[in-house]
Amino acid sequence: MKAIILERLDKNASLELSETPVPVPGPTEVLIQTKAIGINPVDYKTLEDFTTPTGIRASWAPALDGISPLILGSDIAGVVTAVGSEITKFKVGDEVFGMIRMPGHGRVYAEYVAAPAVHLAKKPNNITFNEAAAATLAAITAWQNLYTHYPVKKGDRVLITAPAGGVGHYAVQMAKERGAYVIGLTSAANADWVRHIGADEIIDYNNFDFEQADSLQLNLVLDSGGRYPASLYEKHFAPGAALFHLPHPLAPTDMAYFQSKGFDVRYTGVFSEEKAIDAIAVLLESGKIKSYVDKVFAFNEMKAALTEMKKGTTKGKIVVEAVSR
Ligand SMILES: NC(=O)c1ccc[n+]([C@@H]2O[C@H](COP(=O)([O-])OP(=O)(O)OC[C@H]3O[C@@H](n4cnc5c(N)ncnc54)[C@H](OP(=O)(O)O)[C@@H]3O)[C@@H](O)[C@H]2O)c1
Repeated sequence: MKAIILERLDKNASLELSETPVPVPGPTEVLIQTKAIGINPVDYKTLEDFTTPTGIRASWAPALDGISPLILGSDIAGVVTAVGSEITKFKVGDEVFGMIRMPGHGRVYAEYVAAPAVHLAKKPNNITFNEAAAATLAAITAWQNLYTHYPVKKGDRVLITAPAGGVGHYAVQMAKERGAYVIGLTSAANADWVRHIGADEIIDYNNFDFEQADSLQLNLVLDSGGRYPASLYEKHFAPGAALFHLPHPLAPTDMAYFQSKGFDVRYTGVFSEEKAIDAIAVLLESGKIKSYVDKVFAFNEMKAALTEMKKGTTKGKIVVEAVSR
């Protein structure tokens, strides 16, 4: 089969389209013929560097240490072509989607992927493979933060940073689904689109003085963008507020400071979880959330797709279509 291979976890290693054997699914796995692949900033970050701005080794990197060759990617939609001996959830021919082995070695940039069945849900019939592949890592991140780490309640005031991005656009829709009042912190260029996907209010970060403005009384900040330090939001917290920072781990002293004040401020890391992907399938099927696929690339254009994602200007998601469509 064709796969996009990284020889080793090393920023000097190149990403190459090569031939490699089709994987054999284990007893609790299914084999998927890939139809679409969702890409994420973690993919290009893995290619470039493995330490965060605070000097901490990125949470996903140790899981890739020593593996050679590596097949990057976690987000897949496709068709089941074989099932392991213990599988009852899926059968050959089922259309599925999910985030595979995160954190870990996803092996998704390939024509065929052997994936744990518990990382997958059936693709709803009302969405395309591209829309399903989009609604994986980014959607699970939004879901785990808004439904588990801080279960958003009706009437909560939720601020989402980078609300036009992959995580942000699902988070806006999910927070609305939970009945929150949603504020998007973004640029004027993204304002109309973020309102269109459901935000109640937009704050333009180029025209907002965090220190002078009245307190926004936020119950939750989902900080996907990470443009500003957590300390800038403190004045805007309601009692007991949470701030989840996604781009990289925070300094332990900062977390301890906020904890002493009764705030839950921390980095949260997404992980493959059956109940999350099953819940997302239900939200997609009901139309309560929707994937916005901004750009689509061919399988042999993976490098161009990652370069495009790195620009940070995507509205929603970028998807790469597989070899077999
Ligand atoms: N911890 C986790 O488990 C986890 C999971 C998923 C993603 N992440 C991280 O969360 C971040 C967002 O992921 P994503 O998939 O939503 O990415 P994305 O789709 O590429 O996000 C695009 C948005 O990022 C903002 N942005 C662009 N350049 C930026 C810069 N230099 N600094 C800060 N923000 C910038 C822009 O929004 P504005 O102009 O509105 O700011 C843009 O709309 C990434 O750093 C990603 O690695 C972490």
